[in-house]
Amino acid sequence: MLLKVSDLTKEYKRGGKSFAALNNVNFTAKTGEFISIVGCSGSGKSTLLSIIAGLQTPTDGEVFIESQPLSGLTDKEISLIRSTKIGYIPQGQSLLSNLTVIDNVCLPYVFTHNADDVKKRASDLIMQLGIGELSNCYPNSLSGGERRRAVIARALINSPKIILADEPTSDLDRKNTKEVIEIFKKIAVQGTAVIMVTHENDTQSYSDFVYELSEGTLREVFGNKLKL
Ligand SMILES: Nc1ncnc2c1ncn2[C@@H]1O[C@H](COP(=O)(O)OP(=O)(O)OP(=O)(O)O)[C@@H](O)[C@H]1O
Ligand SMILES: [Mg+2]
Repeated sequence: MLLKVSDLTKEYKRGGKSFAALNNVNFTAKTGEFISIVGCSGSGKSTLLSIIAGLQTPTDGEVFIESQPLSGLTDKEISLIRSTKIGYIPQGQSLLSNLTVIDNVCLPYVFTHNADDVKKRASDLIMQLGIGELSNCYPNSLSGGERRRAVIARALINSPKIILADEPTSDLDRKNTKEVIEIFKKIAVQGTAVIMVTHENDTQSYSDFVYELSEGTLREVFGNKLKL
């Protein structure tokens, strides 16, 4: 199994009280699957993705990536898994403003590989995402939709097996939303598992599986994975 999330619970403390942002969450993802997780603000979507990406540790439960449990790994080992197997698209703006589009896209590759051949690969990805003419521009001269495409190119630079996309269409109009979702669908069909969280149910027709996250509890609304 490419990704297995097993009995995941995350408790946060606020004002001296603890509460569960995630409550016994279970799901799996295989190569080529497009999975949507829909939930309203505060339901735990970003918490879930950041734990899968190894950026936070759960209070209980386990994340397995290609059967490798993340718990017990060192920060360095988790960073290596994140940079080689996962393309993480964080919520909101995440491009570095002092780097051009192409240098932003190259960045994850430069950390993990010999960088000689990266510009060609980055340039190809930028073209495929339809922003070829913006390669040498800085992010603040791009529209929201164009920045989104640049972030997707950056997430793809290391050929990840899993894409984690945190509300990648939240600041886009309908046309750009459709185009970005279609890009994710294409990425999934080409052999990557795409896990996309969103607060709008605009991805159902593209998804192999749709889950709803409500106050930290995950429930399947479309597909046939969970036996509830
Ligand atoms: N570091 C933290 N400490 C305490 N509480 C937190 C922390 N991070 C998130 N929370 C709380 O946990 C809950 C889930 O937060 P999370 O960011 O995962 O929600 P979300 O579904 O991504 O929301 P949104 O759609 O607004 O991005 C919220 O109630 C939030 O206030
Ligand atoms: Mg969020």
